[in-house]
This record gives sequence, C-alpha cells and structure tokens, in this order.
Amino acid sequence: MNKLALYCRIGFEKELAAEISEKAGDLGIYGFARVAENSGYVIFECYQENEADRLAQEIPFQQLIFARQMIVVSDLLTALPPDDRIRPIIAQYQQHNDNLNLKLSTELWVETADTNEAKALSTFCRKFTVPLRQQLKKCGFLNFREVNGNGVTLHILFLANDSCYVGYSYNNNHAPHFMGIPRLKFPSDAPSRSTLKLEEAILTFLGEKEEKQRMNDQVKAVDLGACPGGWTYQLVKRGMFVYAVDHGKIAPSLMETGRVDHCPEDGFKFQPPKRTKIDWLVCDMVEQPARITALMTKWLIHAWCKETIFNLKLPMKKRYQEVRSCLQKLSDDLNKQGLTHRIQAKHLFHDREEITVHVLITSVYRQKSEG
Ligand SMILES: C[S@@+](CC[C@H](N)C(=O)[O-])C[C@H]1O[C@@H](n2cnc3c(N)ncnc32)[C@H](O)[C@@H]1O
Repeated sequence: MNKLALYCRIGFEKELAAEISEKAGDLGIYGFARVAENSGYVIFECYQENEADRLAQEIPFQQLIFARQMIVVSDLLTALPPDDRIRPIIAQYQQHNDNLNLKLSTELWVETADTNEAKALSTFCRKFTVPLRQQLKKCGFLNFREVNGNGVTLHILFLANDSCYVGYSYNNNHAPHFMGIPRLKFPSDAPSRSTLKLEEAILTFLGEKEEKQRMNDQVKAVDLGACPGGWTYQLVKRGMFVYAVDHGKIAPSLMETGRVDHCPEDGFKFQPPKRTKIDWLVCDMVEQPARITALMTKWLIHAWCKETIFNLKLPMKKRYQEVRSCLQKLSDDLNKQGLTHRIQAKHLFHDREEITVHVLITSVYRQKSEG
C-alpha cells in the first residue's frame, strides 16, 4: 500500500495535490499526485513502499487545509465480480496485515467521493457494508476495542460498483466522520444557513473540552460582518455576549436574547468598546484575503482579542499559494510581536469558495523596550 487517497470538495483537487506534495516533501517523502478534475479526491503515489503509511501517521491531519480525509490505499481494484466483491477486498487486507496490523481495526466505512455521480453509489455502499463487515469480523478484523485512539478505521472508496480502493486511516490522525463530512442539522431558529459554517469550525478546531472552557457565559465576542446573524447565533447559543458589527439588519430574535449589541459600523474601523475585555473575534466579511488577514493580525497584535475564527475568500487562481502566503504572513507578524500562537485552517464542508481559519494566542513574550 504505497498510495494516499485524500478526499476534498469537487473542484479543489489541484489545491489538495499541491498541498500534499509539499507536506510529503517536507518529510523527505517523494511521489506524485494523480489529479482527475472534479473527481472529489486525489491519489498521492509514493515512490517507496510503506511511505504512504508514514505520511498517514506523520502529517498531522489537522494541518491539511484542503483534505477532508486521508487514507492509505493499495492499487485500484477493478473488474470486481458482481457475485463476489468481498473476497478480493479481504484478500487485500490479509496481504498487508503482517506489516500493518490491520487487526487493530475498529470501524468500517464504505465510501464514495462527494460528487453527484459517485453519490449514486451510496445505496449500494450502504447495502454492501453489512455483509463485508460480517466477513471482515470472521477473518479477525474489526474486533479491536480502541484505547487512547490507537486503532485504525478500514475504508473502501468505491469509484464504480466494480472498482474500489481498499485502505485504512489512523483513528488518531483522521477526520472522525464518514466521508470526512460532519453531519450537522440546521437549527430552525437560526437566521441564516452560514450558521453551520461557524458550528463546523468550532467542532473542527476546538473540540468539546476547549469549547466549554473558552466559549461560555463569561466570554464576550465581536462578530464583524454579522448580519443577518447566523454566526452571532452560534456564539449566543453558547452563552456569550456579542457585539454584532454590520450596517445590515440583524435578526430580531437575536436582539430579544439581550445578549447582542448591534453596532451598525464599518468592520474595518470598529474597535472594542473601552474597558471591555473581548476574548473572541469572528469575521465573515467577504473581502480580499490579504485585507482580512491584516485586520485579524491587527486585532491580535493590539490584544483586542485572544482568539479568532474567520473566513478567507479564495481567489480565482493560485488559490493554495494565496492561502499559504496569507497564513505565513499572519504567523510571521505574530512572531515578530512575540506572540506564540496556534493557526489551523480548513476548507470545511460548509465552505464553498473560502476557507476557515482559527488563530489562538497561546502566550506573549514581548521584549521590554530599553529605557
Ligand atoms: C456573508 S455575510 C455574513 C453572514 C453572517 N456571518 C451570518 O451568518 O448570518 C457578510 C456580511 O458582511 C457585511 N459586511 C461587508 N463589508 C462590511 C464592512 N466593511 N463592515 C461591516 N460589515 C460588512 C455585509 O453587510 C454582510 O451582511
């Protein structure tokens, strides 16, 4: 198994290919990315056997922007016999088990790429899962009780009902969702669908424990470009008080909570009210990515907030390069000010032509000026 299969939103295969090639190169692992436009996945083929496994363990999945999932796969199985697709699949796992210990498997996901054509296979995949799971269990797979995230998940990626990739991911370094997509339910009382974007961002970047610690009724936030209020809704739902900055109309239901101050001002000029400690800044204004990055940097450097989640609208061309350069500049500028930080960025399922970024200031080492 010397290939990685990475899932993405359709149309972002080139960005993902550039990203995985760079990250693999950073680890001294070389190969080439096979890209089929609008396929919803990329195959990165390593030159050396077993190196795909190293990548799946050593590239922190959280650091990949355009990947929804990362799995190690073998060569594409084609012409699977319709009356016995199971045998060749299990044979793949058995063949690789000695090196890889796939008996540590906890879960089976029979998946497709996230394209309309591939989704037509979903019913087939669902039905196929049950007999495949039974057979795998009989052969000693899928019986492992995980401790501390040290198990693996088995993935079958079907391209057609007679061809698939057979693979696995590490449970401590993958997206913990079927097809890499978190299923979120739209709250009927939320003012806009973009509410799901912030909900997914919080789920992805913070996790339950950090969310409870840093998003609660002791915390104040600013939402730049807030109207009609889908993001503010998520913050208020977690008990926070929100300054909602936007010339537009905010949902009356949010104002009725008494947890929102609507500020009809320019988000690029707004500053936190005097003597008010703001913890969180969120921003969903649609603007040039470099301009939004500079604004976020300003807030963090002035200590107007400690933490931020914001969107970067992707340009038409050189999207990966633009994102890299914005995030690099942000990091460099914070370092120059002695601000240690954690940056995470992801092309979320609910994002379209944008990515979502999370920045947390972890500590401040400011040099005292002389005199
Ligand atoms: C994509 S919408 C935000 C949607 C919002 N996050 C929600 O969930 O409902 C972008 C908003 O940014 C606002 N906006 C754009 N430029 C702005 C600026 N310079 N200052 C304040 N708001 C701005 C627009 O009025 C618009 O309401």
